[in-house]
Amino acid sequence: MRAENKMQIDFLSKSSNEGFARLAVAGFAAQLDPTLEEIGDIKTAVSEAVTNAIVHAYPDSIGRIRIQARLYAGGILELVVRDWGVGIADVDEARRPMFTTGGEERSGMGFTIMESFMDSLRVRSAPGKGTVVTMKRKIALRGGEAQ
Ligand SMILES: Nc1ncnc2c1ncn2[C@@H]1O[C@H](COP(=O)(O)OP(=O)(O)OP(=O)(O)O)[C@@H](O)[C@H]1O
Ligand SMILES: [Mg+2]
Repeated sequence: MRAENKMQIDFLSKSSNEGFARLAVAGFAAQLDPTLEEIGDIKTAVSEAVTNAIVHAYPDSIGRIRIQARLYAGGILELVVRDWGVGIADVDEARRPMFTTGGEERSGMGFTIMESFMDSLRVRSAPGKGTVVTMKRKIALRGGEAQ
């Protein structure tokens, strides 16, 4: 399926860029005229994926993070969050609720949150190569409302 619109941003894995990434995606998604709840869900999912790339992918260094957003017919928003960091050895294990390698300060709920706030979540990863998180969310078309 061909995207009706798309954007891509690359930024450094600094925690100060987490808010930027969230707002950039929200700004792109705004053309779908989402509800506050929909935009909140999308921002939360982006925040979790980007925080993972900042915290886990590049634990002792600053690396590159890429977000691609694509818009498909029918109001389907696809988000791809990619890093070239340490990768995940066992993705099924990492996706399990409360699984974390982050110690005390992490709750291991990031993937579970992404899964529940988005319609679909796919995680591809290879140790030493990086991680690609792909999420989709359909934004209801709100026809019939006064514009
Ligand atoms: N981009 C990534 N690169 C490398 N490892 C990752 C990445 N994203 C997630 N992981 C691994 O998967 C685990 C689970 O991630 P998840 O987001 O569910 O929980 P968390 O980040 O540990 O805790 P929380 O998100 O609740 O703060 C992480 O602890 C980490 O080991
Ligand atoms: Mg996390």
